Amino acid sequence: MTFFDENPNLIFDNIKNLLVKGVNERDHPFHTPIFSNIDRNNNSNARIVVLRKFDKKSLILNFHTDYRSPKILELKKNNNSFFVFYDYKIKTQLRINTISYIHNQNEITHKAWEETRLFSRKCYLTEKFPSSKTSSPEDGIPDHLKGVDPTKDESEKGYNNFTVIENEIKNIDWLFLASSGHRRLNINLEKKNN
Ligand SMILES: Cc1cc2nc3c(=O)[nH]c(=O)nc-3n(C[C@H](O)[C@H](O)[C@H](O)COP(=O)(O)O)c2cc1C
Repeated sequence: MTFFDENPNLIFDNIKNLLVKGVNERDHPFHTPIFSNIDRNNNSNARIVVLRKFDKKSLILNFHTDYRSPKILELKKNNNSFFVFYDYKIKTQLRINTISYIHNQNEITHKAWEETRLFSRKCYLTEKFPSSKTSSPEDGIPDHLKGVDPTKDESEKGYNNFTVIENEIKNIDWLFLASSGHRRLNINLEKKNN
């Protein structure tokens, strides 16, 4: 099946399959979407994140972050958020409205942390928080960890910073580019029961 299908239910199924691929395939264009939100001054903000999980039933997209990241406070103030995905090979853009939920030091983060490799845990051991202002482009990694992975024991110090953001999908705007005419489908999931 391709996106040439006219049936909205088949397009929706295909979107869900693409999001699953985005999680599982590191080289898939949907692996690194843009995640956008509103900052504390009501300005828009956006950055790339890694798509870690997508649940087809609950329609929740997950990514991991550091609790010290400015977007935590921003999402606490306003949890309306937005994802943009684009796969140039299939000329498909998804714009997805979400509501974000922050998880830190709970069952969800505990389970995800256990599945995290030592190499990835290092990001949560930095001395400076994400988006810190620095005079040089430093990595913030403690000197003794430069070029090496932390031990399992040492990596545990990062757990308090490790955060899972769950993003519940509210609306999907699907755009397929075609020389014969671009096609668009809006899927409002606040009304739909899948
Ligand atoms: C390929 C790529 C993947 C990234 N993945 C994540 C991620 O999964 N979570 C995250 O918080 N930041 C990730 N970042 C860093 C963010 O884009 C951003 O620089 C950082 O989160 C600080 O943003 P903030 O100040 O808005 O919190 C990634 C950046 C790139 C280039």
